[in-house]
Amino acid sequence: MTRTIAERLDDPASARAAGRRKMDWAEAHMPILAALRESFAADEPLAGERIAMAMHVEAKTAVLVELLAVGGAEVAIAGCNPLSTQDDVSAALHAVDGVTSYASHGVDTDEYYDAIEAVVGVDPTITVDDGADMVTHIHDEHPELIPQLKGGCEETTTGVHRLRSMADDGALDYPMFAVNDTPMKTLFDNVHGTGESALANIAMTTNLSVAGKTVVVAGYGYCGRGVAKKAAGMNADVIVTEVDPRRALEAHMEGYDVMPMREAASEGDIFVTTTGNRDVVTRADFERMADGALLANAGHFDVEINLEDLDEMAVSTREVRDGVQEYELSDGRRLNVLAEGRLVNLAGPLSMGHPVEVMDQSFGVQAVCARELAANHADYDPGVHDVPDRLDREVAEVKLDAEDIAIDDLSDEQREYMDSWDHGT
Ligand code: NAI
Repeated sequence: MTRTIAERLDDPASARAAGRRKMDWAEAHMPILAALRESFAADEPLAGERIAMAMHVEAKTAVLVELLAVGGAEVAIAGCNPLSTQDDVSAALHAVDGVTSYASHGVDTDEYYDAIEAVVGVDPTITVDDGADMVTHIHDEHPELIPQLKGGCEETTTGVHRLRSMADDGALDYPMFAVNDTPMKTLFDNVHGTGESALANIAMTTNLSVAGKTVVVAGYGYCGRGVAKKAAGMNADVIVTEVDPRRALEAHMEGYDVMPMREAASEGDIFVTTTGNRDVVTRADFERMADGALLANAGHFDVEINLEDLDEMAVSTREVRDGVQEYELSDGRRLNVLAEGRLVNLAGPLSMGHPVEVMDQSFGVQAVCARELAANHADYDPGVHDVPDRLDREVAEVKLDAEDIAIDDLSDEQREYMDSWDHGT
């Protein structure tokens, strides 16, 4: 029987208090979720819904979960990474009316999937994922639930890729919103959130400077763009590696050096992978790296830096700082891997994930998507759906209001001009 977080902790009461403090701080800086909370409390748009979630269980996520419960849902949650759960936050969340948390830090693979299985016990009508583990688990182990599932929401690029592959294979049997892909998420969370929090966590975990170093960013997608820009802003030299010719050119035009990883390997001081792909840094690269190189991953899974290769090459390994594993090679070089090659901004000992304001936007989109599924699920066939533009705009408007930023309105003439095709010089 999988235990809830309250059953796993020695002192759940003090954990709850510590977690609540983190949640209160986050909540105070999440104006979008605060605005939605008012309408969710008044209208209870999720009354009668049961939501199964697998997400990074830290303070911002907890504010989202509480909002869903305020909206009338019964919620059960597990982690989506064994190291990103904060037990105190999980305990505080478990104490919220209508919420059960099975998320616990440092679980092994069996316990990780046991927690997901326990969450399915809520008998879900809606799922919310970060990485698609819940939706794949339900398809594999509980297909009997699919007829009752109104839909789900997916938070990250890797999860959306997995869902699109399922859909291409005809294996996705209920509607999923690609929350990741909508502007209010990708352009802020992936770019600014990952850029700031990955570099901040590398700096905090190592207590070393980024300035004056060469930072190699693998992948110039949304996350890579953010990491490259912020690293350059911190006075690093930046090298980008890519496999897509257009993204490589984009990085080149932004002024970064672009080269294959094999070449970048001997140039870099800090390596950050952001590809969502596997084996991006492998044996041949480790062979070229300088003594003391720092290796960090910001992609969803811990497969981007090939740690099996590194393990085989190492004559010894030791933890040189909390969250930094040193691999000593036979020629005496030492390579340092942060956060076990897992998401450096979420899985390190000091990691807190993205800045609060960024997650307010991402989770604002999650909340309105859950509301949409509860109200209008019949409009969505099984498969991957873009978030409707009206929902993305709604979240943007709330944020602008909260920031006290006014923008112009289209006049009727402008609207007509933009919509017509029969005008010329
Ligand atoms: P994206 O699809 O925009 O970018 C990935 C880029 O990597 C693409 O340009 C692709 O061409 C490139 N790439 C693929 N294989 C490569 C290889 N072998 N070498 C070099 N480049 C390669 O994806 P996005 O949104 O940037 O997400 C990347 C990863 O980060 C995903 O796993 C996503 O789930 C994760 N993510 C992590 C966050 C965090 O908090 N750390 C936040 C948001 C996303």
